[in-house]
Amino acid sequence: MKRNRRSFIKASVLGGAAAASGALTASAVAGDTDGKRHGPLNLLILGGTGFIGPHMVREALRRGHSVTLFNRGRTNSELFPDLETIKGDRGSDLEGLKDRRWDAVIDNSGYVPRHVQNSAELLAGAVGHYLFISTISVYASFEQPLDENSPLGTLEDETVEEVTGETYGPLKALCEKRAASAMGSDRLTVLRPTYICGPGDHTDRFSYWPLRASKGGSMLWPGTPQHTTQIIDVRDLANFTIDCVERKTAGIYNTVTPKDSYNFGQLLEDSLVLTGAELDPVWMNEAFIEEHEIFGSLPVWHPNSGDYASISKVSGSRARAAGLHNRPVRETIRDLLRWWETLPEERTATIRAGLAPEREAELIEMLKAS
Ligand SMILES: NC(=O)c1ccc[n+]([C@@H]2O[C@H](COP(=O)([O-])OP(=O)(O)OC[C@H]3O[C@@H](n4cnc5c(N)ncnc54)[C@H](OP(=O)(O)O)[C@@H]3O)[C@@H](O)[C@H]2O)c1
Repeated sequence: MKRNRRSFIKASVLGGAAAASGALTASAVAGDTDGKRHGPLNLLILGGTGFIGPHMVREALRRGHSVTLFNRGRTNSELFPDLETIKGDRGSDLEGLKDRRWDAVIDNSGYVPRHVQNSAELLAGAVGHYLFISTISVYASFEQPLDENSPLGTLEDETVEEVTGETYGPLKALCEKRAASAMGSDRLTVLRPTYICGPGDHTDRFSYWPLRASKGGSMLWPGTPQHTTQIIDVRDLANFTIDCVERKTAGIYNTVTPKDSYNFGQLLEDSLVLTGAELDPVWMNEAFIEEHEIFGSLPVWHPNSGDYASISKVSGSRARAAGLHNRPVRETIRDLLRWWETLPEERTATIRAGLAPEREAELIEMLKAS
């Protein structure tokens, strides 16, 4: 049971989720920012056409930078016809990156340490700065509140390359370490986002709550209204990413909404205000959730006790001190609802996360009968 839960959470933070002795320690690299803006930059993005990448590309272009993409040309390849895309596979073909120069590289697509090592070694002499998108799943445990110095997960066998719910976090921790070895900590930024949400989120995890609320009727809500959650708006992450490469801000930064700043009661209220739905919220307590094993269908919610009690208690204060701006969550919800409206019916017919309608109705019946 514990294993399954861990797998689920690791997998769910994946997006699809070094120890103090590691080469990259937060204290060694934090806060090295010159605070200055720079002129137009030549940026390379490893990835760039999934969910977070396009937001970064657009923000970089908006600020007058030029952008080159590196990917296999499989995902949303029509998105940026005017940008140079170097085709290649991180696992086997970095040829196209040779003999080129960029001011900075943003690595969105590193999951396998060998891939990150290869690209960072190849680019170490060709870029001024390397920004690696990591994840809060790197942390070894979520039982206690976390900051950037909390211990990281490790793998018994560091040659493993298969990305699973179990290995995702420790692999990303190793990726961070390999990037630091190749680049040096003073030219590396590591961002560790929690659940990334907003327009374009293909997982529907956070989106489930307002989208389900918009349908009205009796709706199950987990825990209590006071139960907190943490997310990061994809646009806030993109803005901070570009800030970091402009300012050459080195260091490790959790990128999350402020701890304890947002709870499920507010999520319900924001959803109602924004959708105008008529809703009868039915709150389930943790014992009921446990008994019916529905934890996996309650995205961005985690029980107050057990292995993941503090997954929504991640300190983001270092990133905020370095310039991360978190927009109000209501704005994230407003904009993801607007984006949802633009999607074709085949996409919106089923919400990809949360409780299936039949299961929800069944559980509500049980609650009412008890
Ligand atoms: N979603 C979340 O809640 C969440 C939370 C924490 C951290 N993260 C992190 O966010 C990042 C993922 O974001 P995203 O998918 O939205 O990024 P993205 O940059 O928007 O998209 C993924 C890109 O990687 C390229 N790619 C995939 N495999 C490749 C390969 N073998 N070689 C070359 N290019 C490859 C894809 O293009 P092709 O397929 O055409 O190659 C695509 O352009 C990951 O680092 C993940 O760990 C996500």
